[in-house]
Amino acid sequence: MSTPYVNPLRDPEDRRLPRIAGPCGMVLFGVTGDLSRKKVMPAIYDLANRGLLPPGFSLVGFARRDWADEDFANIVHDSVKQHARTEFREETWRQLAEGFRFVPGEFDDDVAFENLCRTVEELDRVRGTDGNHAFYLAIPPAFFGTVAQQLREHGLAQSDGKTWRRVVIEKPFGHDLASARELNATLEGVFAPNAVFRIDHYLGKETVQNILALRFANEMYEPIWNRGYVDHVQITMAEDIGIGSRAGYYDGIGAARDVIQNHLLQLLALTAMEEPVAFDADSLRQEKVKVRSAVRLPADIGEGTARGQYTAGWQGGRQVRGFLEEEGIPPDSRTETYAALRLSVDTRRWAGVPFYLRAAKRLPRRMTEIALIFQRAPHLPFSATDTEELGQNALVIRIQPDEGITVRFGSKVPGTAMEVRDVNMDFAYGESFTESSPEAYERLLLDVLIGDPPLFPRQEEVELGWRILDPVEDYWASHDKPDSYPAGTAGPPSTDALMARDGRAWRRL
Ligand code: BG6
Repeated sequence: MSTPYVNPLRDPEDRRLPRIAGPCGMVLFGVTGDLSRKKVMPAIYDLANRGLLPPGFSLVGFARRDWADEDFANIVHDSVKQHARTEFREETWRQLAEGFRFVPGEFDDDVAFENLCRTVEELDRVRGTDGNHAFYLAIPPAFFGTVAQQLREHGLAQSDGKTWRRVVIEKPFGHDLASARELNATLEGVFAPNAVFRIDHYLGKETVQNILALRFANEMYEPIWNRGYVDHVQITMAEDIGIGSRAGYYDGIGAARDVIQNHLLQLLALTAMEEPVAFDADSLRQEKVKVRSAVRLPADIGEGTARGQYTAGWQGGRQVRGFLEEEGIPPDSRTETYAALRLSVDTRRWAGVPFYLRAAKRLPRRMTEIALIFQRAPHLPFSATDTEELGQNALVIRIQPDEGITVRFGSKVPGTAMEVRDVNMDFAYGESFTESSPEAYERLLLDVLIGDPPLFPRQEEVELGWRILDPVEDYWASHDKPDSYPAGTAGPPSTDALMARDGRAWRRL
């Protein structure tokens, strides 16, 4: 019997097809900041260029500038020219720019919000945005409350059931558990929980989504993805850059709050969680929350963590200054630019398998990866000299750059009677796929406009992240200042000591 033909174009569940946002617009607060110029504006253009935005899409900029619509359009133009991923096409640009508007004003200025209301209504009429609007708060979290209240008071936050209103915020979601709860109460006092889209841009990366495909679309890996075979896991986010012009944000925040609480704990959750029953927001959240609740800190936080601050050094052949000499950093700052910690995951699958996390600025190169390091073979029928250069097997998910997966295993060296040495087997995105990967923000912005929530962390996950990190931050705050490491080196001595205590070593950067 032949199976009936199903036209995939008619199947709304078919996730292979390009998904296109329905009629809608976006209001962007904080248009002059780095996030807007380097990520949000280019991603909007790239989506338009890929034909994934509705023809009447509109973008309203709101800021404390005395600008006309054209000035705002020029800012977006420059940002697109500099940072867009796809080629610049006059036709795409012209159509998109017709939907640009600018509303000048302070966040507490009622008149400005009345203007915003009128602008949004005008767009609904002339561009057909149909009352559907996302409010992207690319502004410091201290202003989230004021803007949310203004949106509510001016009737911009409420939908009438047929239209939608969503708010988009970026990490950091607070700086500890208490402030994260406060922030959430402010936002959820105005928007329904499912209208709050929290961006952790790591979840928008193709390589990060691929962790689930690798684990759950294949049969090869899952049987060995557990304590029976895995010795330990290393999750690394190394950056070669310093803090640049972000002193105001970074000082007092540090590496652990900046990227471990969110990006690295997301990577840990995707690596360690059980299979979700479906690829939908609730099922994913359930598994991520379960695994996060099972994460434990080392009994001795001092021994199970390390932190450092970069000092002047050499990077890429260039002399760079130390953290304490960066503009805007007080000379006695104790903020860490290097953070490492050992976590365990108390589940049947992972009991006894340490997860080592490290994140830092000014390391020798930019590299994010998850490495599963396997136990040694229980018995080797070769002599010790034959296997002198044989390490532990490893499966490495290369998140960026050089996206792909490496499997490291021992192989006989040709021409020797028997010598076994490590070799690598590589999968590289660039070689296997002709499509280039969209930027994380393209995927996430499109999901906001479509209303597709699986890639956005929920409040529960955020809170569990702080529950893990808060005791570490408290410990660090009440102990000595961070160690130092020269820019361009692999971190402070205490990080190697942390691994050495467990008889292990970090992977080379
Ligand atoms: C951000 C951090 O979330 O991620 C930055 O605040 C960091 O400090 C950035 O530089 C790195 O992102 P990516 O995508 O380049 O790894």
